[in-house]
Amino acid sequence: MPSENKIVEIKNLSKVYGNGVEVYALNSIDLNITKGEFMAIVGPSGSGKSTLLHIIGILDTPTSGTILIDGENVSDMSDDQRATVRNKKLGFVFQYHHLLPDFTALENVMMPMFIAGVEKKEAKERATQLLSDVGLHDRMEHRPNELSGGQCQRVAVARALANNPDILIGDELTGNLDSKSSRMVYDILRRLNEKYKQTFIIVTHDDALAERTDRIVRIIDGKIVS
Ligand SMILES: Nc1ncnc2c1ncn2[C@@H]1O[C@H](COP(=O)(O)OP(=O)(O)OP(=O)(O)O)[C@@H](O)[C@H]1O
Ligand SMILES: [Mg+2]
Repeated sequence: MPSENKIVEIKNLSKVYGNGVEVYALNSIDLNITKGEFMAIVGPSGSGKSTLLHIIGILDTPTSGTILIDGENVSDMSDDQRATVRNKKLGFVFQYHHLLPDFTALENVMMPMFIAGVEKKEAKERATQLLSDVGLHDRMEHRPNELSGGQCQRVAVARALANNPDILIGDELTGNLDSKSSRMVYDILRRLNEKYKQTFIIVTHDDALAERTDRIVRIIDGKIVS
């Protein structure tokens, strides 16, 4: 297989915790993810979903095995090199939005661009575009406490895409939302994925939400079962 199409290549990867009693959070995982794919990782609590997502997000390291992100072996890199790849290629959304409370939606989305050195005019244009992409063009001047939970998560999605990452990673990003808001967030993700062609990797407990993606990877006891 030509590896240009692969944004993530995982080979024989394990993550073991514990001293004394060993816990295989991930047990010999093989997984290839194609550029532009919208993928869900599902499985019971404790099955290893977050562990896998954190390793793909270069927030954690495997105990053994390899992981290539866009052809680069991140398992071999120094912490600085890993941080560079993480900042350039990855965007994150977690269960809690972690928006800055004193800043507007627009400023929250502009923030990662400021940090990356993008000039103000361009940052504002791009943040405005992303906020209208997530359906919040009329809420840009609102602060997080003036927005609903679903709206805050949509701002968090826009912020994660601010620096145009190759991969968007979401861990239970609708875990605190009711089912209607969750579906709306997934529909927005679907549209964003089609528009910007980035790779989306989303962990969820919810099979109905996972059905809205291109591919479902199911993990049980640290192993991919389907
Ligand atoms: N830092 C740690 N130290 C020891 N064990 C850990 C650690 N982090 C996770 N584990 C164990 O690894 C396994 C996988 O955990 P993980 O958080 O990946 O599960 P998960 O599928 O995300 O579960 P949930 O749906 O509840 O979020 C669990 O058995 C967990 O107890
Ligand atoms: Mg988890």
